[in-house]
Amino acid sequence: MPRVAVSASALFVVFTLVSASSRADSLSDAPDRPWEACGECHGLDGISATAHFPKLAGQKRAYIEKEVHDFRSGARANDNGQMGGIASDFSDQAIERASAYFSALPAPPPAGDPGKDAARAKAIVETGFPAAGIPACHACHNAAADAVPWLEAQHASYLAKELHDFKTGIRTNNPTMAAVARRLSDEDIDALATYLAATPRLATDRGQQ
Ligand code: HEC
Ligand code: HEC
Repeated sequence: MPRVAVSASALFVVFTLVSASSRADSLSDAPDRPWEACGECHGLDGISATAHFPKLAGQKRAYIEKEVHDFRSGARANDNGQMGGIASDFSDQAIERASAYFSALPAPPPAGDPGKDAARAKAIVETGFPAAGIPACHACHNAAADAVPWLEAQHASYLAKELHDFKTGIRTNNPTMAAVARRLSDEDIDALATYLAATPRLATDRGQQ
């Protein structure tokens, strides 16, 4: 009978919400598994549900660690200080362990359509656009560079936001990357972000390092 079915599913929703919130409490308090607190925003599998939170799965360990230290010291800030607040609660050792955990997870699958300007974006990523002074993204963002993040399979709107933040001087923790971003038009940024989100990483075996 439909009425019974509706109330049964409503009860199920309530039950699920209650158990999710008690689980969240116990996750935050787990000192031996510091990544569980991070997982509440970034996903325990490192594949965050919304683009407000970057995906950390399979991201380079040295890069994750550097960024959390940058948030803690204030060298990198975000909109409402979420990461800075979290990072200041974590010891160096907890940051190291959380970085090792996320970097060892399998890389996220690419998502979405590469977009109408994919050919131009691909050319910028692989060979750059010397006439406009734009270097190849892969000159730095490649498998060999430990503290340079993977861009492929990241959320498109997160990538676009970071490029705008570098370009406009909101993100100041790498002057070289800021110089690259200032060479990109808003159209380039949209094309690159859409293409990169839909493209697999060059290698997926870096997570173990
Ligand atoms: C309350 C939500 C929240 C929690 C919990 C959280 N983060 Fe974040 N994190 C964010 C947001 C939001 C950003 C994006 C900042 C921006 O817009 O530049 C971010 C960004 C990052 C980045 C930068 C990623 C990149 O690609 O540059 C790293 C690394 C990171 N977080 C690691 C962690 C780790 C490790 C933990 C656990 C110690 C953690 N975060 C806990 C919200 C959170
Ligand atoms: C000269 C080296 C270099 C080149 C060339 C370069 N980058 Fe970067 N980029 C970096 C470094 C280093 C960082 C990490 C900065 C930090 O320490 O936070 C970075 C960070 C980024 C981020 C932030 C990612 C995140 O997870 O928060 C984006 C987006 C990005 N680069 C896009 C690009 C694009 C697109 C291109 C090509 C047009 C490019 N980069 C070319 C060095 C480079």
